[in-house]
Amino acid sequence: MGQQMTQPETRVIKGVNKIMEFQPKIEAMICTYCTYTAADMAGSQRLQYPPTVRIVKYPCTGRVSILHILKAFEAGADAVFVGGCEIGSCHFVEGNLRATERVAYAKKLLAETGLGGDRLEMFYIGASDPHKFVEAVTQMTERVKRMGPNPLK
Ligand code: FES
Repeated sequence: MGQQMTQPETRVIKGVNKIMEFQPKIEAMICTYCTYTAADMAGSQRLQYPPTVRIVKYPCTGRVSILHILKAFEAGADAVFVGGCEIGSCHFVEGNLRATERVAYAKKLLAETGLGGDRLEMFYIGASDPHKFVEAVTQMTERVKRMGPNPLK
C-alpha cells in the first residue's frame, strides 16, 4: 500500500507542477516596417521559437505609449517587448528613439511597483533579420520563466 502524503508535501508538489507548467504570455508590440517583416519571415522560414508570443502591430514603435504597456500587464501579460527598426532606420525618423525613452521610463515604473523592470525590453530588429526576432522571443521567454508569472494575474 502506498504511503499517504502530508498536506504540506501535496502543496509543494502542486507548486512545483505549477512552475513547470508555466507558459508565459508575451506581448510583442512591433512596428510594421521592420520587426513585423522579420517576424513574418521567421514564420515563412519555419524558424522555431516558443509559442508564447502575441503580436500587436504598430505603424511605428513611436506610437507605443506607456499606457499601452501598463495596460498589457494589467491584462495579464507576463512580459512585453517593443520591437522597432534599427537605430537610424525608423521610417518616421525618431519613433524608435521615442519608444526607447518610454520603455526605459516604463521599466522604472515596473521596478518601483514590484512587478519587475526586466519584464519589459526594447529590441531593434531589421526587416531582414528573422533570427533576431526569434532570439528576442526566446530571450524574453527564458527571462520571464525565471521571474515567474505576472503577480497581477
Ligand atoms: Fe519602425 Fe519607426 S517605423 S520603429
